This record gives sequence, C-alpha cells and structure tokens, in this order.
Amino acid sequence: MDMIEIIRKKRDKETLNKEEIKYFVKNYTAGKIPEEQAAALIMAIYLNGMEEEETKNLTLAMAYSGDVLDLSGLGNVVDKHSTGGVGDKVTLILMPIMAALGVPVAKMSGRALGYTGGTIDKLESIPGYRVNLTEEEFQAQVQKIGISLIGQTSNLAPADKKLYALRDVISCTESIPLISSSIMSKKIAAGAGSIVLEVTCGDGAFMKTKEDAISLAKSMQKIGKLCQKQVVALITNMEEPLGYSVGNICEVIEANRALKEGIIEKDLKEVIFTLGAYMLQLAGKGQDISKNKEQIEETIHSGRAYQKWLEWIEAQGGDIQYLQNPNLWEKANYQLEIYAPKEGYIQKIKARAVGEIVGSLGAGRQTKEDMIDKEAGIVFYKKVADKVEKGEKIAQISTNKKEMLEIAQKQLLEAIEIGEEEPQKFPTVLDIIE
Ligand code: URA
Repeated sequence: MDMIEIIRKKRDKETLNKEEIKYFVKNYTAGKIPEEQAAALIMAIYLNGMEEEETKNLTLAMAYSGDVLDLSGLGNVVDKHSTGGVGDKVTLILMPIMAALGVPVAKMSGRALGYTGGTIDKLESIPGYRVNLTEEEFQAQVQKIGISLIGQTSNLAPADKKLYALRDVISCTESIPLISSSIMSKKIAAGAGSIVLEVTCGDGAFMKTKEDAISLAKSMQKIGKLCQKQVVALITNMEEPLGYSVGNICEVIEANRALKEGIIEKDLKEVIFTLGAYMLQLAGKGQDISKNKEQIEETIHSGRAYQKWLEWIEAQGGDIQYLQNPNLWEKANYQLEIYAPKEGYIQKIKARAVGEIVGSLGAGRQTKEDMIDKEAGIVFYKKVADKVEKGEKIAQISTNKKEMLEIAQKQLLEAIEIGEEEPQKFPTVLDIIE
C-alpha cells in the first residue's frame, strides 16, 4: 500500500477504506511511517473530517494496536469517561458508590495534562496507593471487592499515544473524529462493556460550545453502536470549576467528605447522581432514573459508599488513616486567603484560568515527565451566583512556591467576576444523549 496515495485521497476529500486506515495505524505505531507523512494525513483528516465508518475503523485500528483487556469474567462492567475538566473529582466519589451498589468497577484513568486534572494523580495523593497493578492483580481485586482503579497500562492503545502527541504539536487537537476515536479506542482497549460519557463544554473544556459537545457525544455514541457497545452521554457545563476545590490533596479531601458526611456541592452532586443513575441503568440495576438517584442517595447516607471507598483504597495499598483523619496530610508551606474586593454576586469563576493558576502553583505538569506538587491547590468558599460582602473570604490558595503567591492572587481575582445583579444559574447537566 502507498502512504502518499492515502494522503492524497484524504487531501482530496475521498473516503479511506478499512485496509488503508489499518495500514497507516499499524505502520505508524511501528515507526515505519515518517512523522511528516503522518502529520500530513492527520492535518487532512482535521480539515476534511471523516465519515462514521472511517471514524469507527480508525477507532478499532487504534484500540487493537496494543493490549485489549478481556473483562468478561467480571460481569457487566460499565465504564465512565469525562472529556476533562477543572476540579473534576467525580470518579473518586462515583466509583465507590457504584461498587457499593453491585456494579463492577474495573477502571483505568489518566493523569493531569495542561490545565485539566487527572484522577490518577489525585489517587496518588493518598500515601501508599498503587496505580500500577498487574492485570491479574487488577482483575482479582475487582473479583474480590468489586472495584479497582489503575493508570493506563503502557501498551494500551499505543497508536493513540503517538497520534495524540503528534496532534498536540501540529495544532490538530480539536477535531471531532480525532477526539472521538482517541477516547473510544482507549475505552474499547480497556474492556468496557458499556460506557457513560461526560462531555464537558465551556471555558474549562475542549469543546467550547454545547453544540460541539453534542456533536462529539453523538460521534462517540455512533462508534459505540458500530462496535456493539451502548453509550449514554451527558453534556455538562464546565464554565466554573466543579465542586469547591481544584488540586490534588484538596480534591481527595472534598471527595472523602462527600462519601463520609454526604456533603456534596450542588453542581458536583448533579453530575454524580445523573452519571450514576445512567450507569445503574446500563448495568441492569434499575431502569427508572429517579429511583436510581434515590438508591445513590441511600448508599451514601447509609455509609455503604464510604465503607467501599475505604475498602478500595486499603486494598490498593493506600493508608486509610488519611481518609479517617484528613488533618494528617501535610499542608503546603504557604497559604493565602482571597477576599472579595467588593460587595455583590459572583458572576463568573473562569474554569480555565483557575486550572492554569493551580498548574502554576505546582499542581499541573507541562510535560508528561514533570513532577506535580500534591499540596498545591485552591479551595473556594463561594460559587457562581453566591452573594458576597466586601472583604468576605472567597477562596484560599495553597502552594510551596512562595514566589507564586502574589501572582496567583492577582490572577485569581481577575478570574472571579463580581457584579451587582444576581446572575441566572444554569444547570450543570445541559443535555443527555441516550
Ligand atoms: N481526551 C482524549 O483521550 N483524547 C482526545 O483527543 C481528547 C481528549
């Protein structure tokens, strides 16, 4: 097969067949196609798009470029995926709830990159937690206690790893066929039976508009259908950070409090309960969405979700004393309280800016190799539409980088808009694509 001819076809808006896509993915992963040819093809896909069948073929070629897990022995595993956000600790809270309700949780998650956080970094804030179990240990833990969550294994969809890195440096990230095939290839390789997706949109998300988020959701749902996997997608609003905290230790503390005391910020609760209700439906544990939400409420209030959280973390080597007594966590060396400069209502807390500030405080990484500071973060005391008095505390910054305190304070005050009028507060779950 001829790579120049494959590029020409896509350049001229023709449709690539399965064999051409497989040829490209296989040989690019093996290092047999030069970067300039791969870049040319990806740019042509970015500009000219792909048909549903082509996107499915690209997804499957990437999924089968490495190991594909067989989780069929574990029962009806329903996976969950978010396209990324700021302050997103949903997985930490939702997964033990699902496991307590009898839905097997065998999940692989990613790390932070850019301004968005990563579940694996958050879990690593718990001393001792092992993110790299062998596949046997992973499956045995799910058999035994119903839940395990690990980092993506190195040979999971290696074609996506290479292509993702390439897209990043040739400005081809925001393309619906490329994003949907990238996400779905990893979900298929990770053995998902059915999938609940959270497609975020707004300031702190890849998709800036609700319409683009819906197109992405529909594209992933279509791939799922063509691969015999049921996919439900929630479109959620990522204009302001989710919940009260953004960082690593501070987000684990927020998740722990949600499970232990049932105290969950309203927007975060809406996302968790809706995702969970659909996961229960896909797992065959209840068809009525409002009754499923009641089951979730009961599982938290009875303490069963908290017990499952402790059991999970302990089984994976984490020291649960930190969850039982969060004061054990070391605090960052520098803390700075942020006060409202005037009276009014919070109009905006710009999610992307907050993600970037938290990254610069030490919690983010610019390259995959960077170490991140688990203690750095921001805790908010107010959310959009809350009333504030002049001088009232609205947030607290934590960092070990003294030189960042003043800069972060200035940037955070710019990211929080206060105005006289009470703003209309929109729901966090904007749409559900079933
Ligand atoms: N997340 C992914 O895994 N891939 C993309 O292309 C975008 C977000």
